[in-house]
Amino acid sequence: MRQKYVVGNWKLNGSLPGNETLLRAILAGVKPHPGCHLAVCVPAPYLAQVRGLLEGTPVAWGGQDVSRFEKGAYTGEVSGAMLRELGATCSIVGHSERRALFGDADAIVAEKFAAARKAGLVPIFCMGETLDERERGVTEEVLARQLDAVLEKSGAAALDGTVLAYEPVWAIGTGRTATSEQAQQAHAFLRARVGKKDAAVAARLPILYGGSVKGSNAAELFAMPDVDGGLIGGASLVAEDFLAIWRAAVAAG
Ligand code: 13P
Repeated sequence: MRQKYVVGNWKLNGSLPGNETLLRAILAGVKPHPGCHLAVCVPAPYLAQVRGLLEGTPVAWGGQDVSRFEKGAYTGEVSGAMLRELGATCSIVGHSERRALFGDADAIVAEKFAAARKAGLVPIFCMGETLDERERGVTEEVLARQLDAVLEKSGAAALDGTVLAYEPVWAIGTGRTATSEQAQQAHAFLRARVGKKDAAVAARLPILYGGSVKGSNAAELFAMPDVDGGLIGGASLVAEDFLAIWRAAVAAG
């Protein structure tokens, strides 16, 4: 039985006092749970603050992106080693906002995935189709292309110990959630495609769903056999909402 994961993605949100209030409220509502992991992926400038607040608690922290480079003349980049130095254990890679707005093509995402692994971070590798792609019936083609870029560069064994996230672009920040059946179908597709290369790795690979997850729909999504938790945007910024999702994951786990 795979464990459950609830990961907050703060995106470009936060402030020093606001982060502290949010994290203190989250900490007041969580207990360590052996089958359920909780983490927040925060803007890099807040990592030191977040480490100070979360060290020794059940909540882990991570980055939202990782440079494909290790060091050198790459202005504005944050390396995996830098994230690790600040205690991050994971980092999102390939989020659709980075793919759409910052030029993270499949090959770049594959390099970022490899860089995160090399630095000792758990990559949370995001994939997902746009509304146009879903309506044209090419969802699986898109997911296959995005997944294969990483499989071809790093191999299926490199996925072991990492986390995948299916985030349909049309469900992100729109209030429009994929149905639990749509999520299950995409997750099963991704797992089967990894399974063609390595069945054991595929069987233990956590696959999270992201896109307008709320306390009110989390239980239904997390009940699906291939949905191992959620990657949460807006609702991770409100302690009560994030905690409700966490409770749904604990109940499903
Ligand atoms: P929302 O939960 O705000 O839809 O965002 C999902 C997301 O992009 C998480 O990475």
